[in-house]
Amino acid sequence: MDEKHTLTLDSVSKIFYQGKNPLTVLDSLTYTFGSHESYALTGASGSGKSTLIHILSGLDSPTQGSVFFDDHNINEFTTKQRSLFLNRDLGLVFQEPMLLNELSVIENVMLKGLIVGQNSSDCKKHALELLERIGLIDKADMHPRSLSGGQQQRVAIVRALFNRPAFLLADEPTGSLDDKSGSVVIDLLCEYQREWNMGLIIASHDSLVSDAMDKVLKLHDGVFVL
Ligand SMILES: Nc1ncnc2c1ncn2[C@@H]1O[C@H](COP(=O)(O)OP(=O)(O)OP(=O)(O)O)[C@@H](O)[C@H]1O
Ligand SMILES: [Mg+2]
Repeated sequence: MDEKHTLTLDSVSKIFYQGKNPLTVLDSLTYTFGSHESYALTGASGSGKSTLIHILSGLDSPTQGSVFFDDHNINEFTTKQRSLFLNRDLGLVFQEPMLLNELSVIENVMLKGLIVGQNSSDCKKHALELLERIGLIDKADMHPRSLSGGQQQRVAIVRALFNRPAFLLADEPTGSLDDKSGSVVIDLLCEYQREWNMGLIIASHDSLVSDAMDKVLKLHDGVFVL
Protein backbone atom coordinates (compact mmCIF):
# COMPACT_ATOMS: atom_id res chain seq x y z
CA MET A 1 0.00 0.00 0.00
CA ASP A 2 3.00 2.28 0.39
CA GLU A 3 3.67 2.13 -3.33
CA LYS A 4 4.69 5.51 -4.70
CA HIS A 5 2.77 7.06 -7.56
CA THR A 6 3.19 10.21 -9.57
CA LEU A 7 0.90 12.59 -11.39
CA THR A 8 2.84 14.54 -14.00
CA LEU A 9 2.04 17.61 -16.06
CA ASP A 10 4.15 17.52 -19.20
CA SER A 11 4.18 20.94 -20.93
CA VAL A 12 0.48 21.36 -20.31
CA SER A 13 -1.25 24.37 -21.84
CA LYS A 14 -4.92 25.18 -21.60
CA ILE A 15 -6.39 27.83 -23.82
CA PHE A 16 -10.04 28.86 -23.58
CA TYR A 17 -11.68 30.83 -26.36
CA GLN A 18 -14.02 33.62 -25.45
CA GLY A 19 -15.41 34.31 -28.86
CA LYS A 20 -12.32 34.61 -31.04
CA ASN A 21 -10.08 35.75 -28.17
CA PRO A 22 -7.77 33.11 -26.75
CA LEU A 23 -7.19 33.06 -23.01
CA THR A 24 -4.11 31.07 -21.97
CA VAL A 25 -4.90 29.76 -18.49
CA LEU A 26 -2.05 27.22 -18.24
CA ASP A 27 1.14 27.93 -20.15
CA SER A 28 3.44 24.94 -20.87
CA LEU A 29 3.25 23.84 -17.26
CA THR A 30 5.56 20.98 -16.26
CA TYR A 31 5.49 19.52 -12.75
CA THR A 32 5.44 16.14 -11.00
CA PHE A 33 3.24 15.56 -7.95
CA GLY A 34 4.29 12.68 -5.69
CA SER A 35 1.84 10.44 -3.87
CA HIS A 36 3.44 10.85 -0.44
CA GLU A 37 3.12 14.62 -0.28
CA SER A 38 0.54 17.35 0.17
CA TYR A 39 0.23 20.39 -2.08
CA ALA A 40 -1.76 23.61 -1.87
CA LEU A 41 -2.63 25.17 -5.25
CA THR A 42 -3.07 28.87 -4.66
CA GLY A 43 -3.38 31.97 -6.83
CA ALA A 44 -5.83 34.79 -7.47
CA SER A 45 -9.39 34.15 -8.55
CA GLY A 46 -9.28 33.22 -12.24
CA SER A 47 -5.63 32.08 -12.12
CA GLY A 48 -6.59 28.55 -13.21
CA LYS A 49 -6.74 26.46 -10.01
CA SER A 50 -10.02 24.74 -10.87
CA THR A 51 -8.90 24.30 -14.47
CA LEU A 52 -5.77 22.53 -13.24
CA ILE A 53 -7.74 20.21 -10.93
CA HIS A 54 -10.01 19.29 -13.86
CA ILE A 55 -7.00 18.60 -16.09
CA LEU A 56 -5.16 16.53 -13.46
CA SER A 57 -8.23 14.35 -13.03
CA GLY A 58 -8.94 13.97 -16.74
CA LEU A 59 -12.33 15.69 -16.38
CA ASP A 60 -10.98 18.18 -18.93
CA SER A 61 -8.13 17.75 -21.40
CA PRO A 62 -5.16 20.00 -22.13
CA THR A 63 -5.06 22.06 -25.33
CA GLN A 64 -1.40 21.01 -25.61
CA GLY A 65 0.79 18.66 -23.61
CA SER A 66 -0.11 15.58 -21.58
CA VAL A 67 -0.88 14.37 -18.09
CA PHE A 68 0.61 11.10 -16.85
CA PHE A 69 -0.45 8.90 -13.93
CA ASP A 70 2.84 7.01 -13.37
CA ASP A 71 3.75 6.29 -16.99
CA HIS A 72 0.19 6.15 -18.33
CA ASN A 73 -1.03 9.06 -20.42
CA ILE A 74 -4.46 9.75 -18.88
CA ASN A 75 -5.60 11.57 -22.00
CA GLU A 76 -5.29 8.31 -23.94
CA PHE A 77 -7.27 6.13 -21.52
CA THR A 78 -10.12 4.00 -22.84
CA THR A 79 -13.51 4.52 -21.17
CA LYS A 80 -12.85 1.54 -18.88
CA GLN A 81 -9.36 2.74 -17.91
CA ARG A 82 -10.75 6.23 -17.23
CA SER A 83 -13.42 4.81 -14.96
CA LEU A 84 -10.84 2.81 -12.97
CA PHE A 85 -8.56 5.84 -12.74
CA LEU A 86 -11.38 8.05 -11.43
CA ASN A 87 -12.88 5.48 -9.08
CA ARG A 88 -9.82 3.59 -7.82
CA ASP A 89 -6.69 5.74 -8.23
CA LEU A 90 -8.18 9.17 -7.57
CA GLY A 91 -10.53 10.73 -5.08
CA LEU A 92 -12.22 14.01 -5.93
CA VAL A 93 -13.80 16.54 -3.60
CA PHE A 94 -15.42 19.82 -4.65
CA GLN A 95 -16.70 22.92 -2.90
CA GLU A 96 -20.19 21.43 -2.66
CA PRO A 97 -20.40 17.88 -1.25
CA MET A 98 -22.48 16.67 -4.26
CA LEU A 99 -23.85 13.67 -2.40
CA LEU A 100 -26.61 11.71 -4.13
CA ASN A 101 -29.81 12.54 -2.29
CA GLU A 102 -31.65 9.44 -3.55
CA LEU A 103 -29.17 7.33 -1.56
CA SER A 104 -28.54 7.10 2.18
CA VAL A 105 -25.28 8.35 3.70
CA ILE A 106 -23.74 4.85 3.84
CA GLU A 107 -24.80 4.08 0.25
CA ASN A 108 -23.05 7.27 -0.89
CA VAL A 109 -19.87 6.26 0.95
CA MET A 110 -19.73 2.73 -0.50
CA LEU A 111 -20.60 3.68 -4.09
CA LYS A 112 -17.06 3.62 -5.47
CA GLY A 113 -16.41 0.19 -3.98
CA LEU A 114 -19.44 -1.18 -5.81
CA ILE A 115 -18.37 0.55 -9.04
CA VAL A 116 -14.96 -1.17 -9.01
CA GLY A 117 -16.61 -4.54 -8.32
CA GLN A 118 -16.14 -5.22 -4.59
CA ASN A 119 -18.80 -7.26 -2.87
CA SER A 120 -21.46 -5.31 -1.09
CA SER A 121 -21.04 -6.73 2.43
CA ASP A 122 -17.30 -5.87 2.40
CA CYS A 123 -18.18 -2.39 1.13
CA LYS A 124 -20.73 -1.93 3.87
CA LYS A 125 -18.27 -2.99 6.58
CA HIS A 126 -15.61 -0.60 5.25
CA ALA A 127 -18.14 2.26 4.93
CA LEU A 128 -19.23 1.75 8.55
CA GLU A 129 -15.59 1.89 9.71
CA LEU A 130 -15.07 5.16 7.84
CA LEU A 131 -18.28 6.67 9.21
CA GLU A 132 -17.33 5.58 12.73
CA ARG A 133 -13.93 7.25 12.34
CA ILE A 134 -15.48 10.59 11.31
CA GLY A 135 -18.08 10.46 14.06
CA LEU A 136 -21.09 10.06 11.77
CA ILE A 137 -21.99 6.41 12.33
CA ASP A 138 -25.38 7.44 13.73
CA LYS A 139 -26.17 9.15 10.40
CA ALA A 140 -25.44 6.06 8.25
CA ASP A 141 -29.05 5.43 7.22
CA MET A 142 -30.11 9.04 6.97
CA HIS A 143 -30.50 11.09 3.84
CA PRO A 144 -27.61 13.44 3.06
CA ARG A 145 -29.97 16.43 3.05
CA SER A 146 -30.61 16.00 6.77
CA LEU A 147 -26.91 16.55 7.61
CA SER A 148 -25.23 19.92 8.15
CA GLY A 149 -22.93 21.32 5.43
CA GLY A 150 -19.79 20.34 7.38
CA GLN A 151 -21.12 16.83 8.03
CA GLN A 152 -22.00 16.41 4.34
CA GLN A 153 -18.49 17.49 3.34
CA ARG A 154 -16.96 14.90 5.72
CA VAL A 155 -19.15 12.25 4.06
CA ALA A 156 -17.99 13.48 0.62
CA ILE A 157 -14.38 13.09 1.78
CA VAL A 158 -14.73 9.51 3.00
CA ARG A 159 -16.66 8.68 -0.17
CA ALA A 160 -13.68 9.99 -2.17
CA LEU A 161 -11.27 8.05 0.08
CA PHE A 162 -13.21 4.77 -0.04
CA ASN A 163 -10.83 2.92 -2.39
CA ARG A 164 -7.71 4.33 -0.76
CA PRO A 165 -6.71 6.43 -3.79
CA ALA A 166 -3.13 7.28 -4.76
CA PHE A 167 -4.17 10.95 -5.01
CA LEU A 168 -6.96 12.97 -3.47
CA LEU A 169 -7.72 16.15 -5.43
CA ALA A 170 -9.92 18.79 -3.87
CA ASP A 171 -11.19 22.10 -5.25
CA GLU A 172 -12.00 24.61 -2.49
CA PRO A 173 -13.20 21.87 -0.10
CA THR A 174 -13.68 24.41 2.69
CA GLY A 175 -15.24 27.08 0.45
CA SER A 176 -18.79 26.64 1.77
CA LEU A 177 -17.86 26.00 5.40
CA ASP A 178 -17.29 28.16 8.45
CA ASP A 179 -13.76 28.22 9.92
CA LYS A 180 -14.41 25.50 12.48
CA SER A 181 -15.97 23.00 10.04
CA GLY A 182 -13.28 23.96 7.51
CA SER A 183 -10.48 23.04 9.88
CA VAL A 184 -12.18 19.73 10.78
CA VAL A 185 -12.27 18.91 7.05
CA ILE A 186 -8.61 19.85 6.48
CA ASP A 187 -7.48 17.92 9.59
CA LEU A 188 -9.35 14.86 8.32
CA LEU A 189 -7.68 15.08 4.90
CA CYS A 190 -4.23 15.54 6.49
CA GLU A 191 -4.76 12.60 8.84
CA TYR A 192 -5.52 10.23 5.96
CA GLN A 193 -2.73 11.74 3.84
CA ARG A 194 -0.15 10.88 6.49
CA GLU A 195 -1.61 7.54 7.48
CA TRP A 196 -2.00 6.26 3.91
CA ASN A 197 0.92 8.11 2.27
CA MET A 198 -1.56 9.50 -0.21
CA GLY A 199 -0.91 12.46 -2.49
CA LEU A 200 -3.11 15.40 -1.53
CA ILE A 201 -3.64 18.32 -3.91
CA ILE A 202 -5.96 21.07 -2.69
CA ALA A 203 -6.89 24.17 -4.67
CA SER A 204 -7.79 26.87 -2.22
CA HIS A 205 -7.67 30.55 -1.24
CA ASP A 206 -7.79 29.52 2.39
CA SER A 207 -4.58 30.12 4.40
CA LEU A 208 -5.72 27.25 6.63
CA VAL A 209 -5.01 24.98 3.65
CA SER A 210 -1.63 26.42 2.60
CA ASP A 211 -0.41 26.34 6.21
CA ALA A 212 -1.26 22.64 6.49
CA MET A 213 0.33 21.41 3.22
CA ASP A 214 3.96 20.33 2.60
CA LYS A 215 4.23 22.47 -0.55
CA VAL A 216 2.51 25.61 -1.75
CA LEU A 217 2.28 26.16 -5.53
CA LYS A 218 1.03 29.55 -6.63
CA LEU A 219 -0.43 29.91 -10.12
CA HIS A 220 0.20 33.17 -11.94
CA ASP A 221 0.06 33.78 -15.69
CA GLY A 222 -0.28 30.06 -16.35
CA VAL A 223 2.77 28.87 -14.41
CA PHE A 224 3.83 28.22 -10.82
CA VAL A 225 5.61 31.18 -9.25
CA LEU A 226 7.37 31.51 -5.91
N1 LIG B 1 -15.13 26.50 -19.86
C1 LIG B 1 -14.54 27.69 -19.92
N2 LIG B 1 -14.67 28.48 -21.01
C2 LIG B 1 -14.06 29.68 -21.08
N3 LIG B 1 -13.29 30.20 -20.10
C3 LIG B 1 -13.14 29.46 -18.98
C4 LIG B 1 -13.75 28.17 -18.83
N4 LIG B 1 -13.41 27.67 -17.61
C5 LIG B 1 -12.61 28.61 -17.04
N5 LIG B 1 -12.45 29.66 -17.86
C6 LIG B 1 -11.63 30.85 -17.57
O1 LIG B 1 -10.33 30.41 -17.18
C7 LIG B 1 -9.82 31.21 -16.12
C8 LIG B 1 -9.43 30.31 -14.96
O2 LIG B 1 -10.60 29.81 -14.35
P1 LIG B 1 -10.57 28.86 -13.07
O3 LIG B 1 -11.97 28.53 -12.75
O4 LIG B 1 -9.64 27.74 -13.33
O5 LIG B 1 -9.92 29.84 -11.98
P2 LIG B 1 -9.72 29.63 -10.41
O6 LIG B 1 -8.29 29.91 -10.10
O7 LIG B 1 -10.26 28.31 -10.01
O8 LIG B 1 -10.62 30.80 -9.81
P3 LIG B 1 -11.44 30.85 -8.41
O9 LIG B 1 -10.43 31.12 -7.34
O10 LIG B 1 -12.36 32.02 -8.59
O11 LIG B 1 -12.17 29.56 -8.24
C9 LIG B 1 -10.89 32.24 -15.81
O12 LIG B 1 -10.56 33.44 -16.47
C10 LIG B 1 -12.16 31.64 -16.39
O13 LIG B 1 -13.04 32.64 -16.81
MG1 LIG C 1 -11.83 27.71 -8.76
